[in-house]
Amino acid sequence: MLHEMVIPWRSPFFHPMLPDMRILVTGAAGFIGSHTVLELLNAGYDVICLDNFANAVSDDKGEAISLNRVAELTGKAVNFKKCDMNDEKALEEVFKGAKIDAVIHLASLKSVGESVARPLDYYRNNIVGSLNLIGLCKKYAVRNFIFSSSATVYGSPEKLPITESCRVGFGITNPYGQTKFMLEQILTDVGKAAGENWNIILLRYFNPVGAHPSGRIGEDPNGVPNNLMPFVSQVAIGKLPELTIHGDKWETKDGTGVRDFIHVVDLAKGHVKALERALEENASIGTEVYNLGTGTGYSVKEMVAAMEKASGRTINKKVGPPRPGDVASAYCDPSLALEKLGWKSELGLEEMCRDLWKWQIDNPNGFNAA
Ligand code: UD1
Repeated sequence: MLHEMVIPWRSPFFHPMLPDMRILVTGAAGFIGSHTVLELLNAGYDVICLDNFANAVSDDKGEAISLNRVAELTGKAVNFKKCDMNDEKALEEVFKGAKIDAVIHLASLKSVGESVARPLDYYRNNIVGSLNLIGLCKKYAVRNFIFSSSATVYGSPEKLPITESCRVGFGITNPYGQTKFMLEQILTDVGKAAGENWNIILLRYFNPVGAHPSGRIGEDPNGVPNNLMPFVSQVAIGKLPELTIHGDKWETKDGTGVRDFIHVVDLAKGHVKALERALEENASIGTEVYNLGTGTGYSVKEMVAAMEKASGRTINKKVGPPRPGDVASAYCDPSLALEKLGWKSELGLEEMCRDLWKWQIDNPNGFNAA
């Protein structure tokens, strides 16, 4: 299903009524990338997908399994190229090979713990890789740029719910979070460059969970998951013995941490809405920033109970000490995204757990067994 890329002109299958735009997605084969590519294809965009397989699985032909499944689900061809953002020459070939209208930049190393152990790898990969990409956007006059940022930039939140104007950059406890914060700073300055007319949108994700309802694509963490919901679903299916709840004496409704969990399909649709804003005629918005969350906080205990209901299984758990660097509560006010992008989350806790469970039982070993 995958086409070798480099298409110097519009595909002959391009429908004239659909948005006549070609979007480059980096990190396209990952959890958020694959769901975003699916929504872009369904919205009629022409998509070029890049990934270096740092957090995605390739088949024996070197194709991305997740994106092959996206091709299956959408009935559309997916243009994929293996490419590392640090390989500037290879990246430039992509820009030379096809006229690109916008970039959605998701490629990033993302493990919090690993970033503490390997800070240079994180700074080199996330910062230098992004600088290469932004530089090529400038050189090839691609002015529409959507960046995957994170609620982690709020560090220890100054108030709840978190609005976009809340303080950022204080209390970030790890290099992964610092790279997101630094890239926000860089993109904010780039967006102000006189006469360049950038449309840059920083999307601050809260806690993406769930999977596509088909059960064909979902989150496939390397090794033992760090994040709550992939861990919980692996306990439910019996791959991991027990969940450790990181503290139950937080100042929250039931003592466990509270987060703004958002269905990955809602998050993916947020990218399409952000893209529409950047592509508006004569937009020239500089840099804008949006929270992508539901606005509702659920506790760890509530998430575990919801997953027990969805799976019909008991989830073994014990309470351990608080995890260093954690905060008690983080949930957002998503109203700016509704006002300016016309986006809001539509799927609730039940759908998040239902779809995560379907993905887990249909793919007990993630994409590896495929
Ligand atoms: C974490 C990262 C954040 C990153 C985000 C990506 C930290 C400190 N923060 O956010 O930088 O952008 O993932 O999605 O790592 N929990 C348990 N037991 C577990 C795992 C988690 O009790 O085995 C609890 C945590 O203490 C927290 C909640 O579940 O209260 C959510 O944790 P997690 O899924 O790791 O997300 P964040 O910490 O919000």
